Amino acid sequence: MSYCEITVGISMHSHSNEPAGSRVARHLVLCGMMGSGKSTVGALCARAIGVPMIDTDELVVAQSGRSVDTIFEELGEVEFRRLEAIAVAQAAAAPDASVIACGGGVMTQAANREALRKTGFVVWLDASVEVLAHRVGSGIGRPLLQGAEPIAVLTRLDTIRRPVYDQCADVRIETSAMSRAETVRAVLDAFEARVINDR
Ligand code: S3P
Repeated sequence: MSYCEITVGISMHSHSNEPAGSRVARHLVLCGMMGSGKSTVGALCARAIGVPMIDTDELVVAQSGRSVDTIFEELGEVEFRRLEAIAVAQAAAAPDASVIACGGGVMTQAANREALRKTGFVVWLDASVEVLAHRVGSGIGRPLLQGAEPIAVLTRLDTIRRPVYDQCADVRIETSAMSRAETVRAVLDAFEARVINDR
């Protein structure tokens, strides 16, 4: 992977071993840890571009009729990941260009990464663990953060997931010092430069 800083806080990645023409990047895919702003930034980007927004957690909830908390509590994390993978496959295969906001664990599964990279331009919203912890607060609605100090869980997950996000992202945006509006602008700039202008 080569890495080049194009502007403060943004790193472009290239995946040089990908066959030419193997991707039709019609979706804008947002990945990153809990609290990185994927859903809020995604909704604002979708509105700005004028495309639908798909949130993988919301799709899982709509299709299962249960909240994320209830799925974890009653069916377990393995079942949540199975339902999440179905939602990701549907989102990636959506014929219309969309913004796809991924749950924080989506990219830990190879099949999810493959499906999303095939049809999407992947942006990693990065932030320090301290900033993530501040944003998630007490962790309500996020089962992985219950029963433990959020900062301890976030630190452990960040260590495990950082290489995974790095591997699948086309662009990393360091959002710790950015406002929401600045993050939206940075995402749209990267997307327009790499996808819309390439058409
Ligand atoms: C998870 C993140 C959550 C949700 C679930 C598991 C994770 O989504 O999918 O609680 O494994 O990091 P957000 O990243 O939108 O909070």
